[in-house]
Amino acid sequence: MKKVIAISNHKGGVGKTTSTLNIGAGIALKGRKVLLIDLDPQSNLTQCLGITDVEKSIYGALRGDHDLPIIKISENLDIVPSTLDLASIEVELASKFARELILKKLVDKVKDRYEYVLIDCPPSLGLITVNALTAADEIFIPLQAQFLALHGLDKLTDIIAMVKENLNSGLSIGGVFITQYDNRKILNRDIAESVNKHFKGKIFKTLIRDNVALAEAPVRGKDIFSYDAKSNGAKDYESLVSEILN
Ligand SMILES: Nc1ncnc2c1ncn2[C@@H]1O[C@H](COP(=O)(O)OP(=O)(O)OP(=O)(O)O)[C@@H](O)[C@H]1O
Ligand SMILES: [Mg+2]
Repeated sequence: MKKVIAISNHKGGVGKTTSTLNIGAGIALKGRKVLLIDLDPQSNLTQCLGITDVEKSIYGALRGDHDLPIIKISENLDIVPSTLDLASIEVELASKFARELILKKLVDKVKDRYEYVLIDCPPSLGLITVNALTAADEIFIPLQAQFLALHGLDKLTDIIAMVKENLNSGLSIGGVFITQYDNRKILNRDIAESVNKHFKGKIFKTLIRDNVALAEAPVRGKDIFSYDAKSNGAKDYESLVSEILN
């Protein structure tokens, strides 16, 4: 089975990058080939893996300078890195024909080599995210269990509907999951409940708990499984990965 998944939510800091990295690493540990694509000018995913000297990046590929530059991380895990230059791509591509399809065409060339392609989206709903949704079979939406977690999500749902109608009829919401969850906070429990109601049938059972190891691992350039396999973060992402693979 080959699947391209965009991890997206235009709200910042909800755990998109942390989830892309650790879902990808978790799937790779199960022996399946995974490609991560850093599609955010902030390049956090690239930095999380300790990659610094980036010669070719997603930016050059989207400009048409070269194919997707792929860097090997471990036996089953590869990444297409990003750089800050990506920040100007939306302006550069503004008048280009079929500009929403650029990433899809690049991904189509390599996706036969992988079982999963995971795309880390930026916290915005511009052309970059539309490219991700056009290339994807599914979108995963991470939500932080906080006040206003659902606020503004209509915008994302609208974009998904527009992409489905005009660019990619096969796109579906693969799942929604809650991150940075703290069971001790009543508010967190209330929000988990309202998210459940809003996304009936789409929500993953696994709650990704608030866990400091998840924030520490990137400082060492590691995913959670190689940083601290016994942490709650590793347990939670392992459980989410099992749900995804089943
Ligand atoms: N479950 C968690 N427990 C503790 N810290 C977390 C958890 N998930 C993410 N973090 C931390 O929260 C911050 C935001 O997470 P992350 O960068 O993954 O969010 P994002 O949605 O990708 O942000 P952006 O919108 O800026 O791209 C990071 O510092 C990360 O290490
Ligand atoms: Mg991010």
